[in-house]
Amino acid sequence: MERVRSLSMISRFLLLHCLILISLFIAAATANTSSITTDQDALLVLRAHITHDPTNFLAKNWNTSTPVCNWTGVTCDGHSHRVTALNISRLNLTGTIPSQLGNFSTLQSLDLSFNRLSGSIPSAIFTTYTLKYVNFRENQLSGEIPANICCNLPFLEFLSLYQNMFHGGIPSTLSNCTYLRILSLPYNDFSGAVPREIGNLTKLKELDLGRNRLQGEIPREFGNLADLEVMSLAINKLQGEIPQELRNLAGLELLQLNENFLTGIIPSSIDKLLFSIEFGIFI
Ligand SMILES: *[C@@H]1O[C@H](CO)[C@@H](O)[C@H](O)[C@H]1NC(C)=O
Ligand SMILES: *[C@@H]1O[C@H](CO)[C@@H](O)[C@H](O)[C@H]1NC(C)=O
Ligand SMILES: *[C@@H]1O[C@H](CO)[C@@H](O)[C@H](O)[C@H]1NC(C)=O
Ligand SMILES: *[C@@H]1O[C@H](CO)[C@@H](O)[C@H](O)[C@H]1NC(C)=O
Ligand SMILES: *[C@@H]1O[C@H](CO)[C@@H](O)[C@H](O)[C@H]1NC(C)=O
Ligand SMILES: *[C@@H]1O[C@H](CO)[C@@H](O)[C@H](O)[C@H]1NC(C)=O
Ligand SMILES: *[C@@H]1O[C@H](CO)[C@@H](O)[C@H](O)[C@H]1NC(C)=O
Ligand SMILES: *[C@@H]1O[C@H](CO)[C@@H](O)[C@H](O)[C@H]1NC(C)=O
Repeated sequence: MERVRSLSMISRFLLLHCLILISLFIAAATANTSSITTDQDALLVLRAHITHDPTNFLAKNWNTSTPVCNWTGVTCDGHSHRVTALNISRLNLTGTIPSQLGNFSTLQSLDLSFNRLSGSIPSAIFTTYTLKYVNFRENQLSGEIPANICCNLPFLEFLSLYQNMFHGGIPSTLSNCTYLRILSLPYNDFSGAVPREIGNLTKLKELDLGRNRLQGEIPREFGNLADLEVMSLAINKLQGEIPQELRNLAGLELLQLNENFLTGIIPSSIDKLLFSIEFGIFI
């Protein structure tokens, strides 16, 4: 009883927290008329935070004598002329991510994958309400996934932190990002249990939590992920019985559960799969 009451208080608190953040967001958006200059300033601060740019990409292409919307890697909306996408993937850039990268008010897609960026992701980035696509794959970034991530990024469809140095738990509140289709968090140092609430993300096509230090059982709620095509939980410390509910995943093309402490059998209805299962840990 006590527990139920405190849980409902927590969830009311979180709801209130969300509402306050959303109204602050609306207040900021109306009180302040940010412009393309705000976007340009953010990109120039980013450029200044890059300490090594082996192909001189930013020096060559991000020049204030050309309009921001013409800079390579920058995409703008045709009507508002505000930045909607930033893609500086695969440039081997060394440096850190400045908090000004959270100043974009219309950014939908942020691709910084395959670079050598280090440090943490500034929390301001996790408040860019319009973001749908966030890719930090293969950098040297660290830190935790904030518990209120979906309060501030409700439209998130794609999140990849593949191969970085993130740690901490996978927040159960990720289940509030109801549009998520790709959740790719392998090759990090995530620990703790796999939240059963992830089973609410019914639009998921790809769920990759492999090569972390996750413990506990595979939630049977994962059997609800009807659109799932790829699921990897390989190379963790998961234990217990493989839930038979996984037989509901009719569209699954790849299932990787190897190198855990799991028991039981892969549901026989999943036969076209390229899976591997081993008992014990072979790192
Ligand atoms: C998640 O969503 C539920 C209801 O949809 C809400 O009560 C809760 O506060 C949300 N939590 C977070 C952390 O976003
Ligand atoms: C609005 O943004 C400008 C920069 O574009 C900043 O200098 C100013 O402090 C902001 N004002 C408010 C009320 O947030
Ligand atoms: C920026 O562009 C102008 C005109 O296109 C050119 O003269 C100048 O050298 C460029 N600056 C840098 C730093 O590349
Ligand atoms: C910027 O791009 C537009 C559309 O592609 C083009 O018409 C314009 O000439 C470009 N401006 C400069 C200064 O390069
Ligand atoms: C970013 O650019 C790379 C090519 O450099 C491309 O492969 C990738 O799909 C782009 N990302 C997005 C989100 O469009
Ligand atoms: C990035 O580094 C890798 C490995 O060092 C190299 O193969 C690749 O060509 C580099 N790419 C660029 C754009 O410099
Ligand atoms: C941009 O971000 C920085 C750091 O988060 C902040 O101090 C500044 O007020 C922001 N500027 C605008 C125009 O939003
Ligand atoms: C999410 O899943 C949990 C446990 O699986 C369940 O109790 C909860 O009601 C679900 N929440 C939503 C918003 O669907």
